[in-house]
Amino acid sequence: MSETFDLVVRNADVATATDRYRADLGIRDGRIAAIGAVLPAGLREIDAAGRLVTPGGVDAHCHLDQPTSDGSRMADDFVTGTRSAACGGTTTIIPFACQFKGQSLRAAVEDYHRRADGKAAIDYAFHLIVSDPSEQVLRHELPALVNEGYSSFKLYMTYDDMKLNDRQVLDLLAVARREGALTMIHAENADCIAWLTDQLVEAGLTAPRFHAASRPMLVEREATHRAIALAELVDVPVLIVHVSGREAVEQIRAGQGMGLKIYAETCPQYLLLSAENLEGEGFEGAKCVCSPPPRDKANQDVIWRSLENGTFQIVSSDHAPFTFDGPNGKRNAGEDAPFPKIPNGIPGLETRLPLLMTHGVIDGRIDIHRFVALTSTNPARLYGLFPGKGTIAIGSDADIVIWEQGLNRTVRNVDLHHAVDYTPYEGLALKAWPALTLSRGEVVWQDGVYLGQAGRGRFLKAARPAPATTRGRGHRSPLWKVD
Ligand code: URP
Ligand code: ZN
Ligand code: ZN
Repeated sequence: MSETFDLVVRNADVATATDRYRADLGIRDGRIAAIGAVLPAGLREIDAAGRLVTPGGVDAHCHLDQPTSDGSRMADDFVTGTRSAACGGTTTIIPFACQFKGQSLRAAVEDYHRRADGKAAIDYAFHLIVSDPSEQVLRHELPALVNEGYSSFKLYMTYDDMKLNDRQVLDLLAVARREGALTMIHAENADCIAWLTDQLVEAGLTAPRFHAASRPMLVEREATHRAIALAELVDVPVLIVHVSGREAVEQIRAGQGMGLKIYAETCPQYLLLSAENLEGEGFEGAKCVCSPPPRDKANQDVIWRSLENGTFQIVSSDHAPFTFDGPNGKRNAGEDAPFPKIPNGIPGLETRLPLLMTHGVIDGRIDIHRFVALTSTNPARLYGLFPGKGTIAIGSDADIVIWEQGLNRTVRNVDLHHAVDYTPYEGLALKAWPALTLSRGEVVWQDGVYLGQAGRGRFLKAARPAPATTRGRGHRSPLWKVD
């Protein structure tokens, strides 16, 4: 070995999505340059002392500084959001560049770059959100952007300012198929939600807990079924985001069972929170208003089992940071606003990995390899960032977490580093937390101290992620022959 390592992490108990071994990790120029039993000295050394070492987390669904249409404002920008992520062991994020109706998709991307430039402390790619699939978007902007490294986009079947009809979904899926992009779908039936909301509001049932009543499992089940049917018709993979419970899981498993490439994501809120969390005193329940809403214990159990049995490929935070007491947050429409006016979303970037490590791995619900796959390797693969991100391997970026285990703590918002004034997970048990986070070989979090720097994070161009078609298994379209 001629060149000295910049850093050697010694005595690591390395766990990847597939392997577990004891090794030293040699890091040079931000990348893993060597893995071996006893590596030569580095310019700097960190002794992992036999601790568990995993790839840095890839949070493939989070919202930072995303403009809204109702006057609310996200509390986290790229400075505070990426700081919080790093302190919780996440080293790559994929937030959304969101197009508003009437806006050019490219303008949305440019705007979002301005929001991240000089601010992000960890690396980031962008998903697109397409809310206005005009001819210009379908024919020109979206194909060009996929080619330039924005290779996944989200579409909504709900929310008045975002929702698309089935024809628009089909048009977008056809572009995804042609360009090799991955479509993420927010699957809830907008008309059912609007009708139920009107009934509830007319009856004066407007407290935060009625948010859950306005979006029952049925509306998610129906839209998930429809999304899968539309994907089958076009013959293209899709990824159903933030899946909350059994009925949607059954639709996904049915699609997967037919041989369709249906991917699925869930989030800690569907593993650890329930609709009861929307029932707190007064307006307290607004803290947990998100869509789909958390369900009940039986649904949590189904989601846990579906992590283990492979139905889900990804666990993301869906971090959507609104303050509870501050201006333009959960009380944007006033003290005790009716539930339809409460901004949707909860924070969770920093707690995603420690909560899943505690309640998933340490409590025996998933093994460590599944943990790494769900939180790092699979999102990196599916969104075109692998093998630079998502694993510990020679040539990969030195994005690494050294874990401290055996803790007996609880989640407390005062310990977190986001700009939100609450966490919905306050008081939940924590048996592990990152002792150290490396981002491209640089220490950004160590022993309770944030050491990152705004602006050091790099934009990542995402490669085309998924195979472009389901190879005709179950497709119904007469329009194209499958090879
Ligand atoms: O309630 C949620 N999930 N808010 C964030 C936006 C979205 O739909 O993911
Ligand atoms: Zn969504
Ligand atoms: Zn989201």
